[in-house]
Amino acid sequence: MTEKKTSSNVVWHQATIDRKMREELNGHKGAILWFTGLSGAGKSTLAHAVEDALHQMGVRTYVLDGDNIRHGLCGDLGFSDADRVENIRRIGEVAKLFLEAGTVALTAFISPFRADRDRVRALVDDGDFFEIYCKCDLAVCEDRDPKGLYKKARAGQIPEFTGISSPYEAPENAEIVVDTGAQTLDESVAAVLAVLRAKGVISK
Ligand code: ADX
Repeated sequence: MTEKKTSSNVVWHQATIDRKMREELNGHKGAILWFTGLSGAGKSTLAHAVEDALHQMGVRTYVLDGDNIRHGLCGDLGFSDADRVENIRRIGEVAKLFLEAGTVALTAFISPFRADRDRVRALVDDGDFFEIYCKCDLAVCEDRDPKGLYKKARAGQIPEFTGISSPYEAPENAEIVVDTGAQTLDESVAAVLAVLRAKGVISK
């Protein structure tokens, strides 16, 4: 992780409008929905489908998606362990800002290391963070290979590829586990919404 370099001359500004006021205006609670899983497990597809359903209910949402964020905010990072740690640290901080804005932030990153996911969880209060494990066998992901990357990784053309030559640490206490290898997309969306309903993030 990068060293913390905050200057002692930088003072936190306390806003007059706080998260609770924003949530009241929005008519719902904020939350972080943290999708994790192998490449090809369906994180982005599911995150966008959940966003679609939430949007139709009038919930304010935003999807932070690995492939897109790596073009901008994290465009300077690669796939070494250290770069992945920094990737997830930045995304965690951004997701927290969305939470403070009273919105539902959905993040779709492999986020392969348990400690990194736990660090994001620890940034926010209990009940704000939902770890959603998109559980899908490597063989299924590899068979899908939507971007042709597994084939390249097997051919030795992509070093440190998650599941092949870089580890994926499955969640042990995820709030939600969706079997994206076996369930339909609609079933997975319903499973996520059911938990959000049970936890009071959405009412409908
Ligand atoms: S993470 O490990 O830091 O969380 P992230 O979700 O941002 O990864 O990016 C993963 C995406 O980058 C994959 O879906 C894939 O399209 C692409 N990618 C390119 N190289 C690799 C690699 N070595 N390992 C995993 N994914 C890679």
